[in-house]
Amino acid sequence: MSTVLVIKAHPKTEAVSNALTIGDRFIETYQQTHSQDQILVHDLYAEGVPEIDSSNLDSWKKLTNGVTYQELSKNEQILLSRQQQLQAQFIQADKYVFISPMYNLFLPNRLKMYLDLVIVSTKTWVEGEHGPEGTLHDKKAIHIQSSGGTYHHTDNAFMATLDMGDSYLKALLGQVGIKDYQGIYCEGNSHRDADDMAANREIIAKEAEKAAKEF
Ligand SMILES: Cc1cc2nc3c(=O)[nH]c(=O)nc-3n(C[C@H](O)[C@H](O)[C@H](O)COP(=O)(O)O)c2cc1C
Repeated sequence: MSTVLVIKAHPKTEAVSNALTIGDRFIETYQQTHSQDQILVHDLYAEGVPEIDSSNLDSWKKLTNGVTYQELSKNEQILLSRQQQLQAQFIQADKYVFISPMYNLFLPNRLKMYLDLVIVSTKTWVEGEHGPEGTLHDKKAIHIQSSGGTYHHTDNAFMATLDMGDSYLKALLGQVGIKDYQGIYCEGNSHRDADDMAANREIIAKEAEKAAKEF
């Protein structure tokens, strides 16, 4: 049995979001074709993500310096517990599904905040002789992304270099050992009327369903 961790990082709801709609089609197909597997879903905009700020860094430092969990303030305990829960789930998962829109050529900030919490030294990577070495192996990830412009379904290779969120996610996951990475892109939404948008969304949803069967 595998555990699939679905990270929804989209402020919209399914009814109005291409990425979330396609993401749901992926999850439904995955469930139908991998009925033994466990699926855990986090909706980062509904749940919120603890921000790494000075109090968060201070509480880590306190623990490193020998302060016990019980000696931390109530707020520090809540923050650390949530963080530890997210980290444990991330480390234990076998497969990852990230669903997000492109914002200013990057990922939405809550996805970056989530990654800052779960990708941490000594847990997901260690300092090796020749640089960072990932500790997560035999895992795979898929990124379902929607965007106003077209970066991948184009002959202009330069456009793909502008999609820094997707290439960052791929590089970061690669650094922790998750090297099997696939992107599914619902693109050009700013230039489509409603019918064209629905038709394109359906094409990409079919692509997502095929990927889900093989994931
Ligand atoms: C704050 C913000 C920044 C955005 N930046 C970009 C961008 O850099 N490139 C792009 O192609 N689209 C950009 N968009 C457009 C969204 O990626 C696009 O509308 C996408 O289709 C939204 O996701 P959805 O289709 O799932 O609703 C941006 C939208 C917002 C709200």
